Amino acid sequence: MTTESVYTPQTVTRVHFWVPGKLLSLSTTRDPAYQFTAGQFARLGLPAATDPDGPPTLWRAYSMVNGPRQEGLEFYSIVVPDGQFSPLLAKLQPGDTLYIDKTPVGFLTLDRFAPGGNLWLLSTGTGLSAYLSMLQDSHVWENFDRIIVVHGVRHREELAYGESLQAWSLQGPPSSVHSSPSARLSYLPIPTRETLPGMPSARLTQLIEDGQLEQLADCPLDPAQSKVMLCGNPEMVTQARALLQARGFAAGRRGNTGTLAVENYW
Ligand SMILES: Cc1cc2nc3c(=O)[nH]c(=O)nc-3n(C[C@H](O)[C@H](O)[C@H](O)COP(=O)(O)OP(=O)(O)OC[C@H]3O[C@@H](n4cnc5c(N)ncnc54)[C@H](O)[C@@H]3O)c2cc1C
Ligand SMILES: NC(=O)c1ccc[n+]([C@@H]2O[C@H](COP(=O)([O-])OP(=O)(O)OC[C@H]3O[C@@H](n4cnc5c(N)ncnc54)[C@H](OP(=O)(O)O)[C@@H]3O)[C@@H](O)[C@H]2O)c1
Repeated sequence: MTTESVYTPQTVTRVHFWVPGKLLSLSTTRDPAYQFTAGQFARLGLPAATDPDGPPTLWRAYSMVNGPRQEGLEFYSIVVPDGQFSPLLAKLQPGDTLYIDKTPVGFLTLDRFAPGGNLWLLSTGTGLSAYLSMLQDSHVWENFDRIIVVHGVRHREELAYGESLQAWSLQGPPSSVHSSPSARLSYLPIPTRETLPGMPSARLTQLIEDGQLEQLADCPLDPAQSKVMLCGNPEMVTQARALLQARGFAAGRRGNTGTLAVENYW
């Protein structure tokens, strides 16, 4: 008897390093049956380093970066120097195989919110990935008045996708998105360990607490007008969630929409 596999082999089509040895984007082919909602993640599989020609035994979660209707799949990854999986992922070349679980998963999706008002997409590090997928889909541009993307990183060289985000903030949605009417995007890149002209060098939790984030975005951060997503470092998520809950933001419950949705990356 044969059992159907829960994953498919896909081929790496492109690898781009933003910061050598630390941050990369990787594109693959996509099984035609693989359909996902922006904000969901895939389970990526690789054989163990000790058995490179064997079946995939190491599996990790990775948010999709590309929009659901775009061709192929794209992922954005950090390389954790002593990690089991990410150093192997970083060695892949075009033509190599990456295994992808057939079922996309995750609830950091825009159906957690009622449409309307301002959408704050707050991230640290690779937590930006899930938002890039949303921004390459029409839903977000059509259903909110303003979109404010905040990307907290240690150093400015880690502001991956910054040029695209800057362009979308000036010109509107990427050409792959056909939307009307369109929300206005603000992009706030925030390195914490060096300065970027015009930007404070502070953690986004501090910027929420002292009101600077609202000033930078020129937008009030209150649950009557805003919805917030948090994605990335789990300590940031815990601390930012507490600050936002104190302002009245709350996750949806029992099928009702809320004003706060979060995802931890480890
Ligand atoms: C829902 C979900 C979505 C995710 N999406 C992404 C993604 O899009 N891109 C991505 O790079 N990772 C993502 N991750 C993390 C990813 O699954 C792996 O943990 C990561 O690639 C490292 O794998 P590893 O085996 O090398 O190290 P692991 O053994 O998995 O992790 C070792 C340590 O590395 C640190 N670490 C792990 N992931 C990160 C990270 N992303 N940024 C900074 N430090 C980290 C933590 O301290 C962790 O304890 C996601 C995780 C979850 C749960
Ligand atoms: N290959 C390499 O050379 C190299 C070097 C360093 C790290 N690493 C790996 O990369 C990982 C770190 O990745 P990363 O820099 O993307 O993630 P990170 O440590 O989560 O830092 C990303 C951003 O989040 C901020 N942050 C951290 N904790 C926070 C909190 N509690 N509240 C608010 N903001 C917070 C950081 O501010 P702060 O700057 O104030 O912390 C930084 O701006 C490490 O686990 C390590 O494995 C690799």
